[in-house]
Amino acid sequence: MVSAATSNAVPQSLRALAGSDLLSSADLSAEQTAALLQLAADLKAGRTLIDLGGKVLGLIFSKASTRTRVSFTVAMARLGGQTIDLNPQVSQVGRGEPVADTARVLSRYVDALAIRTFGQDELAEYAHWASIPVINALTDLEHPCQALADYLTLAEAFGDARGLTLTYLGDGNNVAHSLMLCGALLGVNVRIGCPAGYAPDPQVLEHAQQLAAAQGCTVSVLHEPLAAVRGAHALYTDVWASMGQEQEKAERERAFAGWCLNEELIAEADSRAIVLHCLPAYRGLEISAGAMEGSASRIFDQAENRLHAQQALLAALLAG
Ligand code: CP
Ligand code: NVA
Repeated sequence: MVSAATSNAVPQSLRALAGSDLLSSADLSAEQTAALLQLAADLKAGRTLIDLGGKVLGLIFSKASTRTRVSFTVAMARLGGQTIDLNPQVSQVGRGEPVADTARVLSRYVDALAIRTFGQDELAEYAHWASIPVINALTDLEHPCQALADYLTLAEAFGDARGLTLTYLGDGNNVAHSLMLCGALLGVNVRIGCPAGYAPDPQVLEHAQQLAAAQGCTVSVLHEPLAAVRGAHALYTDVWASMGQEQEKAERERAFAGWCLNEELIAEADSRAIVLHCLPAYRGLEISAGAMEGSASRIFDQAENRLHAQQALLAALLAG
């Protein structure tokens, strides 16, 4: 029997990504984004097997994580590689060793780094000094790996994501930013519904709108929940207070009153609309228990898809 387990299975359209960083959803071209989702679907279905031949991914996570940490670890195992958890609390990173030194040393040991931290600037500094791919595993600005899994889930539900409308309700945060950029690259109309004062970063919005114009879709910001969800094919939300904003929790709960993704809002969306949440979720705040557990929810498929999307990403970045 001929084994399909070969890194040659990475499609030609993704070969240019080998050795690259993924710091932002916008680091990928439209073609690469679509090809990564196709590879993720092929890996999920077992149509493609890729063996990275023992490559090693280092995880540097300065914030808590369940899904991202575990899905990266399992993705590497399924690709025939392994992962080392370089928890800042037990490495010299937590004692202040400079990024420039850490990045250069780790580049001699491991084949890629997935980094979860606060500032995008710190991530960029790692990428500057490292000679291996650096992957954004969430910063305050973006969560590109999440967006790949999200659009894979949307494509699974509708056959193709292009031309659909995804509405994100809530804080114009890291998850919203990557949804805007990645959605624009995939030809998805992205609406951000948020209270005034919690809109996405204007520079990210402008960039997403430029990318969207090239794909014939739109990225917009609305400040009224019903208008934001009307006719949408996916309703998505995230926590109102992200990691690092714990002290703003009460103030944000007041500001986001009326923005809970609930059955009333789902009724205004397309009749086939799916409900998404990156998790972890707070039932009764940004999402109702009914929306979370209802028949439209694809939230746990979405969480599973983190594994498949990251397997595709790792295969592309570490190929060859
Ligand atoms: N959605 C997500 O990134 O989850 P974790 O914080 O658990 O990794
Ligand atoms: N916006 C959230 C996402 C968690 C996966 C945060 O940054 O905490």
